[in-house]
Amino acid sequence: MSFPKLVVGNWKMHGSSVALMGLAELARSERPACDAALCVPYPLLSTAQSVLRATTLRWGAQDCSAHAGGAHTGEVSAELIARFGARYVIVGHHERRAGHAESDSVVVEKVRRVLAAGMTPIVCVGETAGERDDNETHSILRQQLLQLVRHFGRGLSAVIIVYQPVWTIGCGEAATPGLIDDTRAFIVHTLGYHAGLPAGSVRILYGGSVDRRNAGAILSRAGVDGVLVGAASLRPDDFIDICRAAARSANEGELAPLSG
Ligand code: PGA
Repeated sequence: MSFPKLVVGNWKMHGSSVALMGLAELARSERPACDAALCVPYPLLSTAQSVLRATTLRWGAQDCSAHAGGAHTGEVSAELIARFGARYVIVGHHERRAGHAESDSVVVEKVRRVLAAGMTPIVCVGETAGERDDNETHSILRQQLLQLVRHFGRGLSAVIIVYQPVWTIGCGEAATPGLIDDTRAFIVHTLGYHAGLPAGSVRILYGGSVDRRNAGAILSRAGVDGVLVGAASLRPDDFIDICRAAARSANEGELAPLSG
């Protein structure tokens, strides 16, 4: 089984209603032939709902509260996000884990809230440069994934995992295809071994410095189900170009001769 390719834009603390309308306009005429979504800052969810519903793009948020509701000043619940028609919520992005001391158990709670609200969590995992240099990539990934496995087991098939090496975020240089293949295989193995999830039952994306130049090569790797795109998703032409690369690589996959 293979999933349609998915391109998710992470606007971080950028963007505006006007920028969203511009992208919606382009998406209306281009109609990207892949699954695609924009995760916008909370105040833009309402605009996303009104302007993106006429396009093939979906929308979502970049975080949510670990609480279901109540007296938590400044937090936004998954349920409230869902009321804006959002389909996705990014959870456990490095900028949340590192900048807001989010532990794996907080990530688990957030995933639980997103699922309960009927949306799809997009969970980021990945190692820092220091951990990579200490050859700890697999042990870090295992630790991040096992927390999820312990709480959700086979229910993880409702979750999207993004392998996002921290050292590639915003630096202009994506991970090499070899590393992407290796870590994807490790994630598949870990989910299979510990949660009994067969290969191909969880969508696994790559994130970190994806742009219009490298998207085609990354998306055409076997088993890369999509990409999480930061800076390039703020440039409408680039975002649509990346969606085109996703659609192309899906078609190439279908047309590829069967081996063996
Ligand atoms: P980048 O950001 O594409 O600008 O590296 C990706 C992300 O942090 O989600």
